This record gives sequence, structure tokens and C-alpha cells, in this order.
Amino acid sequence: MSSGKKSSELETNPAPDPQAPITRKGFLISLKNSGTPMPIPEQNVYGRCRPVSEFEKLNRVGEGSYGIVYRARDTRSGEIVALKRVRMDQEKDGLPVSGLREIMILKRCQHENIVRLREVVVGKSLDSIFLVMDFCEQDLASVLDNMSQPFTESEVKCITLQVLRALKYMHARYIIHRDLKVSNLLMTDKGCIKVADFGLARLYGNPPKPMTPQMVTLWYRAPELLLGARTHTTAVDMWAFGCILGELLLGKPLLPGNSEIAQLDMIIDLLGAPSESIWPGFLDLPAVQNFTLSQQPYNNLKTKFQMLGQAGRSLLNILFIYNPSTRATADECLSSKYFTEPPQPCDPRMMPTFPQHRNNVAPPQAQPSTEIPISHLLDVFIKRQRLE
Ligand SMILES: Nc1ncnc2c1ncn2[C@@H]1O[C@H](COP(=O)(O)OP(=O)(O)O)[C@@H](O)[C@H]1O
Ligand SMILES: [Mg+2]
Repeated sequence: MSSGKKSSELETNPAPDPQAPITRKGFLISLKNSGTPMPIPEQNVYGRCRPVSEFEKLNRVGEGSYGIVYRARDTRSGEIVALKRVRMDQEKDGLPVSGLREIMILKRCQHENIVRLREVVVGKSLDSIFLVMDFCEQDLASVLDNMSQPFTESEVKCITLQVLRALKYMHARYIIHRDLKVSNLLMTDKGCIKVADFGLARLYGNPPKPMTPQMVTLWYRAPELLLGARTHTTAVDMWAFGCILGELLLGKPLLPGNSEIAQLDMIIDLLGAPSESIWPGFLDLPAVQNFTLSQQPYNNLKTKFQMLGQAGRSLLNILFIYNPSTRATADECLSSKYFTEPPQPCDPRMMPTFPQHRNNVAPPQAQPSTEIPISHLLDVFIKRQRLE
């Protein structure tokens, strides 16, 4: 093609205005025709994805750090789904890596205890991309916030066993979640737990490569991350899992620090100070010199968790091993005696049901008071039906 022809084509099809909103009606640069701009045919504007307009937004269920999650109805099938907008990071040149990672990792994960990504759908503008997931009625953060008494031990076992199965599956596939916390654990009304929010998840190699240390919400952050370790392993998820187990048993966050040093102090108050002898390499961690760590010598898990027997305490102890290379793996936790001794883990279908606090719908009319609350009778009835 002559250069004359190329410039006249560019005149009739000028380069896009960088200030203009990005829409799908832009044009592509042809690789076949030496960089000639060509409009995207109307039928290909959405690629192979369905348009988000086929989903009717019902209500918002979550507003995480990056965007709103809606409960929505798929107008084609009538099914209720969750719709999560992919975070764009003010990206102008396409999908941000974090969004791509979340999609790629979720597509790889097909497990009963990991939220199912059904498909990716798109809006009219290039920066609106949504994940369509199976809808889960609850997240554990809102359940814990709204319950009057903590879960029973057999309910805690039921929940944590399911989380461990998801972790075993992910870790065997070299996936580290990196943001495990109660708000990222969903629960269906059949008592099935699903790990969600893979926005910070990473695939790791062997040997592990350096990653950004700032991840995992402070309260669930492992000591090696607080101390600036550059290589992350599946052990960061196991620490977070230990914090979740503690939180479920206590009915409140276990280590709610409000700064990195406060977080380290809380960890040391609970477990005793780390040292080079119990954690080889500890003194070489990049941030060790930045903090003056307290020298508290005692492990106080036993005092904090008086409701736990020997097996429960030793499970917490192996999850809170300072040295990440000897910390318990999901597989080791699954074979802990804690899960086989009484009280036995309850059947997921026997998990209590909770009002859907996140569906901020109009409050129900006040019920006349009865001796036994109707909600209790309903709960018993629903459980019985599930078992039948
Ligand atoms: N599949 C889903 N079903 C029901 N609620 C969901 C679903 N996915 C997310 N949520 C709700 O939205 C919140 C935020 O979603 P999340 O994926 O954790 O995104 P963020 O990265 O913004 O934290 C969750 O804490 C949960 O309450
Ligand atoms: Mg989240």
C-alpha cells in the first residue's frame, strides 16, 4: 500500500481523541494491512461476551474496596446471579492485569468451595466488564456482624473444613489467594462455604518469585509479610486461615491491629516473641530493623481459647507457627484430630440460616409476638426439609 493512500485513509478515519470516553465503537488497527485503522463491525462490538443489559440489577450486596457487587437476574434464564464490575485502575489501554488475573484464576478453579465464575459480560463502554458469579446469600462478615451469639464449635468445624478443602485445591494448583478474610468467605442458604474475591490472588512458582508485600488485610496478615518478606508462599493463606478460625470461635476478630506495629504487638502478645532460633532467617527480614518488637515470652493461646480442647489448641498452634516454611499446610490441617473428635462438624445443611442483611430491602411488617419466635420455627422447618 502506498504511503499516499495510507494518509488519506487516516484523514477520513482520524486517530481517536484521547480525552473522549472509551466506547466499543472505536476502531482496531489492522495488522494485516500495515496498521490501517478499521472500524469494529457492529456484530463484533461485544466480542463473544453477552451484554450486561441482559441482566436486571436487583440490589447491591457488597461494596468492596474496588466496586459494587449486585444481586441480579439473568433475563434469559431467570436465574439470580452476582454481578461484580472489574476494577479498572484508570486504565486507558484495556483490561488491567489484576482484572485479568481474577478472571483467569477463577476460570481455573472448579471446586464446590470456590465461588463459580459463570461468564464475563460487557457494557457499552470499554471500561465496563463484569464477572457473573453464582449468587451466595451471605458473606461471613455480615453474618458475624449480625449474629447475637458466636457459632457453635460444630458449626465452626463445618465452615472451616470447607475453607480448608478450597485451600488445599488452590494451593495444589499454585494459587495463593492473598486476601483471605471473613468478608471474602461466602455462604449459600444450604450452608455451603465458597471462597471468593480473587482480585489479589497470584500464581506462584517454585522457587517463589518476589511479590509486592502490601497485601492481605492487616488483621489477617502473616508476620513475614509485616516484616517485609519479598517471597510469598501458601503459608500466608494458612496464617489468615488461623485468624479466621480464631475469629469464628471467639465471635470477634482475633488480631484487630490498626497499624503494622500494633498488629505485630498483638501477634506477640498472643504467641510470644519470634526469634532467630524458632524462625531461621527472621533477623534478615527487610523490615525487622524498622520495629522495636516486644520481648513477651509466653504463648497465650491456651488462655485465649479456653473453650478449646487439646486438639483444637494444637491446630491453632501449627497454624500460628512463625516460620512460614514449617507452618501447617491445608492438608495437614484437614487431618487434624480436631475435626474428628466431638463435637463433630455439623452437616452443612444443618447450618443456621440468617436473614439476608445485605439485600437492604424494606423491613418486614412487625409480627405479633408469640411464645416461640416464628423465625425459629421456620428455621427448624427449613433444616428438616433440607435433610429430607
Ligand atoms: N458471588 C457472590 N454472591 C453474593 N455476594 C457476593 C458475591 N461476590 C461478592 N459478593 C459480596 O460483595 C462483597 C465484595 O465482593 P468481593 O469479590 O469481595 O470484592 P472486593 O474486591 O471489592 O472486596 C463481598 O464481601 C460479598 O459481600
Ligand atoms: Mg472482598
